[in-house]
Amino acid sequence: MIEASSPAKAILFGEHAVVYGKPAIAVALDRRMVIRVVRSERFSVDRRPLTIRRNRYARWALENLYDGPPLAVTTSSSIPSASGLGSSAALSCSIAGAIGQINGGISNERCAGDAFEIEYNVQGRASPTDTSASTHGGGILVSSREEDERLWSLSKGDRTWHVHNLSIPPMTLVVGFTRRPSVTPIQVEKVANFYTKSGFARETIEEIGDLVWDAVKALKDRDLVRVGGLMNRNNSLLTILGVNSKELQKLKDAAAPHSYGAKLTGAGGGGSMIALTDHPKKVAASIERRGGVPFIVSISERGVSASGGVDHGGN
Ligand code: PMV
Repeated sequence: MIEASSPAKAILFGEHAVVYGKPAIAVALDRRMVIRVVRSERFSVDRRPLTIRRNRYARWALENLYDGPPLAVTTSSSIPSASGLGSSAALSCSIAGAIGQINGGISNERCAGDAFEIEYNVQGRASPTDTSASTHGGGILVSSREEDERLWSLSKGDRTWHVHNLSIPPMTLVVGFTRRPSVTPIQVEKVANFYTKSGFARETIEEIGDLVWDAVKALKDRDLVRVGGLMNRNNSLLTILGVNSKELQKLKDAAAPHSYGAKLTGAGGGGSMIALTDHPKKVAASIERRGGVPFIVSISERGVSASGGVDHGGN
């Protein structure tokens, strides 16, 4: 049997702007997607036959990255799905890690590339932020320029993203899930329409880009007060782009009195917000009172891992 697992992620700064070549900062969280893979009579996921409708990620990966006898995959996850915490990225990384393990083991760089291909081909449009955070663990900075501590670079069409290690000070985040799914392609499309039509949208994206560089500095300086202020500012800029929602704002306001700062995370429209706080229980209780689902999380340095082996049927 092979076991592979990968962490959830949160985007701390720069979502949406990263689609336009601006930098973004993401962190891996201490919740994981674990998959177990064994040889079997036929391909299956969680004991049901593999189908295109139910298993888009596993199916694409097994058809395009794997060449061998049928496998049975079982999943177990502590990452709420469609919440903006990267459950599909963690699944993509775990599958890429498991297939890599079957093929004799792979590097994190290769795993990040394969997991990005899985997400990109299934979702149509994506930056490698989520899959790289889930592969590497800890913190990452994605940018269109090469900086210090580069881990790997990934390209699609004429776009290249350079992924860097970014050391993040110890911090506790409270995630507040709105109970509404976030549909990334819809929000990305919405911003794309606004971006094409409005100079104001383009300026807002520029401003998010500048803010992310300030955040890199604040994180390096371990200045949580400044990091929190920048989170609030980033949330306002995302609101201008049209991806905030009443529910997200309600949870952000609930967290504000006990937090350094808070913002929506990921594509928005629904999904989750994050608050940076020294009082996670208070923040979690406020989020719950306002109808959200809170998760107290911390940054996890552990990225993708894969161990074990399966009989490869002589191939
Ligand atoms: O919805 P999430 O958490 O996968 O985040 C999407 C982030 C975007 O910047 C909106 C899109 C992307 O692929 O980077």
